[in-house]
Amino acid sequence: MKIVLLLLTFTAACLCADFILDTSLTTKFDHFWERCVGSGHAALALREDYRKHLKLAHDELGFKYVRFHGLFDDDMSVVKMPTDLSKYQYSFFNINSVFDFLLSIGMKPLIELSFMPTAFASGNATTMHYKGNITPPKEYKQWSDLIVAFTRHIIDRYGEQEVSSWPFEVWNEPNLKDVFWTSTQEEYFHFYQATAIAIKSVNNKLQVGGPSTAGSQWIPEFLNFTRHYDVPVDFISTHTYPTDEQPEERNALERITKRTREFVGDLPLYYTEWNCGLVEYGQGDQFHQDSSYTAPYIVSAMGRVGSHVDIFSYWTFSDIFEEQGMPPAPYIGAFGMMTKYGTRKASWRAFELLHKSGNKRIHLSGQDPTVDVLATTDGERNMIFVSNYEILNKVVDFKKKNIKVLGVPPVGKLTLTRVDAENASGYNAWLKMGQPTYPTKEQINIMEESSQLTYNNVVYQLEENGFSFNVSVPPYGLAVIGYKIK
Ligand SMILES: *[C@@H]1O[C@H](CO)[C@@H](O)[C@H](O)[C@H]1NC(C)=O
Ligand SMILES: *[C@@H]1O[C@H](CO)[C@@H](O)[C@H](O)[C@H]1NC(C)=O
Ligand SMILES: *[C@@H]1O[C@H](CO)[C@@H](O)[C@H](O)[C@H]1NC(C)=O
Ligand SMILES: *[C@@H]1O[C@H](CO)[C@@H](O)[C@H](O)[C@H]1NC(C)=O
Repeated sequence: MKIVLLLLTFTAACLCADFILDTSLTTKFDHFWERCVGSGHAALALREDYRKHLKLAHDELGFKYVRFHGLFDDDMSVVKMPTDLSKYQYSFFNINSVFDFLLSIGMKPLIELSFMPTAFASGNATTMHYKGNITPPKEYKQWSDLIVAFTRHIIDRYGEQEVSSWPFEVWNEPNLKDVFWTSTQEEYFHFYQATAIAIKSVNNKLQVGGPSTAGSQWIPEFLNFTRHYDVPVDFISTHTYPTDEQPEERNALERITKRTREFVGDLPLYYTEWNCGLVEYGQGDQFHQDSSYTAPYIVSAMGRVGSHVDIFSYWTFSDIFEEQGMPPAPYIGAFGMMTKYGTRKASWRAFELLHKSGNKRIHLSGQDPTVDVLATTDGERNMIFVSNYEILNKVVDFKKKNIKVLGVPPVGKLTLTRVDAENASGYNAWLKMGQPTYPTKEQINIMEESSQLTYNNVVYQLEENGFSFNVSVPPYGLAVIGYKIK
């Protein structure tokens, strides 16, 4: 008897809707992803196109801080090396130009202290196309003196109050041996200690953190080290990419950030890099950073990791980026949200729509193996994000979902915008034009046109306590429904 009743209840609930939203129940929805965005190396921030793209990322997507490698690289001319090496000079002219620009557009740097100026390096090993030196200092005093001089200089120029809002992160991914650091974990910890002490010697209010590792590694060891030797640490920083772990899994980022939070406790946790997966240009699914794959991925992840992280910095805002050089074609599978020709990709559109979401999250019930629903309100407008994706190489079906909303019906229209293989896709336009390597002005205009968000109206049905509608979402698609409530 009992079993029959349960079955009946279950069937009745299923007939209602696939997802039920209750607008009377909300929780805080922090836009944590807007705090910071990743970028190509520092010297690129001297370029006009980089600056144009970054201002757009700030204005349209709401990013506040930007993080890049290579602030101390030779191409920034920070340490000039005369023939007599003992007479080296500092020059903060290029750094000033970059930081002045960031402040002028309402942004701030999340300072990554890297890489080693050749004048101070203990070896010749370099990383990336732009050849940042990845060896420890030959004399720690030279490095510490540089950190002190740099820190004093920026406080003189920008003021203590401003600079104390800029996090200082020590190095990048020292756990990737011979990719970003030629030495050991022990030496990185020693290097971190020397750097943190140098920064705090200038001003104790400045925030310093590490270990800036790839793959959420070294964190318990780093915390143990800093506690054991009483080394200053104001935040923990690390990175995660879904491709770090094999086999890949759909909700890896949620699982990984939750585990890291358990290690870190109450310290601020800055994920200073992540995106939808690292794949070398020209290998495997080389175009997935250009395709619509990123849009549902990003929105789903933002609905899942927020309670575990304080910063979650997408790598990167633009394809003005040259870790492997800068190939000429607009779509090459590079990480940026905007092509180097300035066309907004699916990832840009996802962040643009998320930026418009409210700061409260609407409670909902219902689930599907490949569909996530995220609903928000700002008290005037509600938005419902429907993402349909799985990791690459898994089958994703076309999905049709019935969504019931408990609460006031739309004032005016219920609108729908899409990001998928056919909608808001400059990439699709480029494929149709035969993948031109050097697009003409006209071809760039066509990509620009195809990358726009367009809005359709959705038919809905009034119900006793609200309303309902149907939405279909193709594989690797994002559908965003919006309406006013006042
Ligand atoms: C680094 O380069 C210099 C100059 O080319 C060379 O003399 C030296 O042997 C190199 N050092 C290492 C460790 O490779
Ligand atoms: C913690 O750090 C100290 C000092 O480096 C070291 O001796 C000890 O083995 C570490 N403990 C763990 C559990 O890593
Ligand atoms: C998405 O693209 C399809 C096919 O081109 C089109 O029919 C539809 O109107 C577009 N939808 C939206 C919401 O723009
Ligand atoms: C949603 O689809 C179902 C089944 O196809 C249909 O009965 C219902 O009327 C649709 N609702 C709306 C608002 O169109």
